[in-house]
Amino acid sequence: MHSHPAKGRLAPCPATSWATRMGKFDLSGKNVLITGASSGIGKELSRCFAAEGANLYMGCRPSEKDQLEGWAAEVEQAYGVKTATFPIDLASDRGPEELHEAARKAAGKIDVLVNNAGIFRYGSFHEIPLDYHDCLVRVNLMAYYKLMRLAIPHMVEAREGRVLNVVSAAAFQPTVYHAIYGAAKSFVQSLSEAVNQEVRGTGVKICTLNPPYTDTALLRDGGFPTNIWWLKVSGLCDAGTIARKGTRAFKAGKEVYIPGFINAFLHTILIRFFPRRVVNAISCWSLRVRA
Ligand SMILES: NC(=O)c1ccc[n+]([C@@H]2O[C@H](COP(=O)([O-])OP(=O)(O)OC[C@H]3O[C@@H](n4cnc5c(N)ncnc54)[C@H](OP(=O)(O)O)[C@@H]3O)[C@@H](O)[C@H]2O)c1
Repeated sequence: MHSHPAKGRLAPCPATSWATRMGKFDLSGKNVLITGASSGIGKELSRCFAAEGANLYMGCRPSEKDQLEGWAAEVEQAYGVKTATFPIDLASDRGPEELHEAARKAAGKIDVLVNNAGIFRYGSFHEIPLDYHDCLVRVNLMAYYKLMRLAIPHMVEAREGRVLNVVSAAAFQPTVYHAIYGAAKSFVQSLSEAVNQEVRGTGVKICTLNPPYTDTALLRDGGFPTNIWWLKVSGLCDAGTIARKGTRAFKAGKEVYIPGFINAFLHTILIRFFPRRVVNAISCWSLRVRA
C-alpha cells in the first residue's frame, strides 16, 4: 500500500489558544510582505496592518520607489513599526523570486503574505495588445502563485502563517471587456481555496479579499467607463473602507470575504440559481459602455 506523500509534512498543528482554534489571527509583531503597497487598496491595507502593530515589507514597481519610501517613513512614524521597501517589477522574469528573497533576508521570517499588486485595462479581448495581456498574467496571476509557492513552505514549517490574496468579486463569473483580468482572478480564487484545503491543520491559512469595483488608480488608469449600468446601481467603493473591512475579516479568520452583503449574495448565492449563459448575458449587459 502506498502512503500519502504529504502526510508527514502536513501533520496537524497543536492549537495554542482559544483564539487560534477559532481561526483568529493577531497581527501584532508579525512580519507582513505586501505587494502593491504604493497605492489604492494595498496602501490602505498596509495602513490597517501597521495600526495592528505589524511590521511591513512592501513592494512596488521601480518607478514608484520614492513614493513608497515616503509612505514607509510615514507609517513608521505614525505606528512605530518596522518597514522596508522593495521596488521590484513583478512582471519581470524573476521579480517574485527576487522580492521574496529580499523580504525574507530583511525580515528573517515572513508571517503573512499579502498578494495585492495588480493591473487592469478595459476593452475587447481581441483589441488589447498581446504584450499587455502577458504583463497582466505575470502580475495578477503568476506573481500571486509564485509568491504563495515560495512563502507557504516556510509557514508550514513554522506551523503558523497567513496568505491574504486580494482577488476580486470578478473572480466568481466571467467579466466581459476585462476578460483576461476576470480570468486571472478566477485562477487565483480557485488556487487559494484549493491550497487552503491542503494546508488545513498546519497552522497556515489562505484567505481571499474580494472587493467590488473600488475607486483607485487601477480603474482610472485602466479606462474603466463610468457610464456602465453596473456602476449606476452599485457605485464605486472606497479603498480605505475595503481595507478596514478586509483587515477585520482577515483577523477573524474569514477565508473568502466579499465586502457588502448584497455583493456577497449576488456573487456567491444568486449566480448559482441561473444558467451560465444567463449570467454571462447579464455580465455583458451590465458592463457594456452605454451611449
Ligand atoms: N480597484 C478595484 O475596483 C478593484 C476591485 C477588486 C479587486 N481589486 C484588486 O485590488 C488590487 C489592488 O488594486 P488597486 O485597485 O488598489 O489598484 P492600484 O491603486 O493601481 O494599485 C495597484 C498596485 O499594484 C502595483 N503594481 C502594478 N504593477 C506592478 C508590477 N509590475 N510590479 C510591482 N507592483 C506592481 C502598483 O504599483 P505602482 O504604484 O508602482 O504602480 C500599485 O501599488 C489588485 O489586485 C486589483 O486587481 C481592485
